[in-house]
Amino acid sequence: VSLHLPWIDAIRKLKKQRGALILAHTYQSPEIFHGVADITGDSLALAQIAADCDSELIVLCGVHFMAESAKILAPHRTVLIPDREAGCSLASSITAADVRALRAQHPGAPVVSYVNTSAEVKAESDACCTSANAVQVVESMGADKVIFLPDNFLGKWVAGRTDVELVLWHGTCEVHEKFTAQEARHTRERFDAVVLAHPECGPEVLAEADFVGSTSGMTKWLERERPARVALITECSMADNLRVRFPETEFIKPCNLCPHMQKITLPKIHACLRDLSNEIVIAPEVTVRARAALDRMLAVGR
Ligand code: 13P
Ligand code: SF4
Repeated sequence: VSLHLPWIDAIRKLKKQRGALILAHTYQSPEIFHGVADITGDSLALAQIAADCDSELIVLCGVHFMAESAKILAPHRTVLIPDREAGCSLASSITAADVRALRAQHPGAPVVSYVNTSAEVKAESDACCTSANAVQVVESMGADKVIFLPDNFLGKWVAGRTDVELVLWHGTCEVHEKFTAQEARHTRERFDAVVLAHPECGPEVLAEADFVGSTSGMTKWLERERPARVALITECSMADNLRVRFPETEFIKPCNLCPHMQKITLPKIHACLRDLSNEIVIAPEVTVRARAALDRMLAVGR
């Protein structure tokens, strides 16, 4: 912690001078989440805050698609990301050309894309979804068959909850795919913990979970249920960050960190604020089409 303090101090000063707002995803390291973020949340919440806040300068501590979503919803603001290389295995699993090829193979089927996609892929989609509203968005398309991308596991989970036929892609989250059903079972049996899992995990893991939900869904569940012991089967910085908010709950940690989230560090946040570097730029025509896909999702509900 003492190593972080000079950076935290310097970032707070610079942030004030610049009039910047620092937004951080729940998977960011605790020194960022607790030390310098003004607002924290899931990827969509951060994008919505970027649109609604009154700061012209936003530093998004998260991965590239999250910073793009913020820019799409707030195109008139400057959005910076401390490391442009902070990617996502789901977002990089599919390109705009892949989406066009899928449409050609399944004429007439609308495309629903998870928010973990690039701006170009969103622009090729009819609607976006999060893991919290995926079933509702798929059903709102009013079609018998929907192309759902890019997360194969989330797609299978949604397919089990709707009569709409889903055409799936082969993307996976390199962090969530590592968890095993045995690990989830062992955690429950050995520590008497409730098991909450993110739907980016594989089907066998989700079958073991007491609750399946997005990062915000899991947080809301904890607020409601206040369990004595819990295992969050998701990126493990989340448990570190929530511990402060739920002091009476013990967090058991099967731990997988997202290497992309870990690329964001205090020195890089400081450098990007100092130099106003790594600005997110999206072509206007891509912004307009991607925005339409996000708006269609928001009309269905969060
Ligand atoms: P949420 O949208 O649930 O915050 O998840 C983002 C993510 O990257 C999950 O791995
Ligand atoms: Fe992407 Fe997985 Fe990292 Fe989330 S945890 S940003 S889905 S690689």
